[in-house]
Amino acid sequence: PSNRLWWKEPIHGIELAWIIIAFLWGLFMFFFMIAWHFIGDQNLSTETYRLQPEAFVEKVEAFAEEYQLMDENGEPVEIDGVPVISPPAGGDVYMLGRLWEWWPILELKKDQSYRFHLSSADWQHGFSLQPVNINLSVHPGLEHVLTLTPTETGDYGIVCNEYCGIGHHNMSGLIRVIE
Ligand code: CUA
Repeated sequence: PSNRLWWKEPIHGIELAWIIIAFLWGLFMFFFMIAWHFIGDQNLSTETYRLQPEAFVEKVEAFAEEYQLMDENGEPVEIDGVPVISPPAGGDVYMLGRLWEWWPILELKKDQSYRFHLSSADWQHGFSLQPVNINLSVHPGLEHVLTLTPTETGDYGIVCNEYCGIGHHNMSGLIRVIE
C-alpha cells in the first residue's frame, strides 16, 4: 500500500476520460438550456414585481368589476361560472391563477397591445397559452407584466402545466380575441 495521500494518487486514464465526458456533457446541456431560451422563444422574459398575493387578488377583482361584459339584458356574461371581462383596447389587463382556475376570462381586441399582469393567489401554477405556446411559471408574491398583442381572432386556452394539487388537471382558462 502506498503511503501517499489519496488525492495525490495518479488518476486512472479511463476514470479521467469519464470525468471529462461528464463535464463536457454538463457544459453542453447548460448552453443548450441557455440557447433554448432564445431559440424556443416560449419562456418570455417579463417585468417582475414583488407584492403580497392579497394585493394582486384585490387588483384583479377591481379590474373584473370595472370591465365586466354585459349582455343585451344587462346581465353579466359568464362562461361556466367565470365572468367574461372586456377591458378597453390597449390598457392594463389582469389574470389570476388560483386553485384551480385562471380567472377571469378576458375578451381582447385583435391587433391591440395590452399590458398583461399575471400572478398567483396561492400556489405555483403554470401559465401555458395555447396554441401560441407561451409558457410562464407563476408564483404567489410575484407579479409578471408582459406586452401581449393578439394578431389572430379566436379562443386561446390556458392550461396549468405545473402540478398544483388535486384539481391541477382541471385548471384552465380562456382568452378570447375578437375583431
Ligand atoms: Cu395550477 Cu396546476
